[in-house]
Amino acid sequence: MENGRNLYKDLDQIFFTAEELKDGVRKMGERITRDYQGRKPVMVCILKGASVFFSDLIREIDLPVELEFMAVASYGATTKSTGEVRLLKDLDRSIQGRDVILVEDIVDSGKTLYYLKNLLISRGASSMRIAALLDKPSRRTVPMTVDYSCFEVPDAFVVGYGLDYNQVYRNLPDIGVLSPRIYANQEDDGETSTHC
Ligand code: IMP
Ligand code: MG
Repeated sequence: MENGRNLYKDLDQIFFTAEELKDGVRKMGERITRDYQGRKPVMVCILKGASVFFSDLIREIDLPVELEFMAVASYGATTKSTGEVRLLKDLDRSIQGRDVILVEDIVDSGKTLYYLKNLLISRGASSMRIAALLDKPSRRTVPMTVDYSCFEVPDAFVVGYGLDYNQVYRNLPDIGVLSPRIYANQEDDGETSTHC
């Protein structure tokens, strides 16, 4: 499709170019910097999907931040999340009394963040906010407010800039809609998939 890259052939449409993503991430970094003046938040990257966004976002924040990483798995078909969440990698340190910012690639049903937010609050975080690159509000099934988001997306399956389908496409610099022909025959296989 573009750049002569093979992966682009599987996309129907580009939603956000690398330049638009950079601009959106810079604005989010500025907002977080303003809102957390005088504080030292713990930024928690939800692996793997948020990794690209996370590494750009932290460099747009002019504050002393600490970095943590968590990984979760969700069950079911690979373009849908069932909301059953299993922890694969936990935090390395206590977040008791800390200001925590959970950094996620995309909020879809909201179930993953609902689970993680409650888990970290139960561990004594003094504040908890969600920073998500993308928000798909039309798909929400649990109440989940996204405190910071760069862009809203419609109900389409998007890949690139960290977001995957079956672990592929994370390295695309842009975000686009994956052509349904790629996953048409592979849905609802009931397999466990590492998510994010
Ligand atoms: P939720 O628990 O339904 O909010 O699921 C969120 C997770 O599902 C995200 O962290 C992604 O890993 C995955 N996901 C949801 N929508 C998309 C998408 O359009 N593209 C890629 N991954 C997605
Ligand atoms: Mg994923």
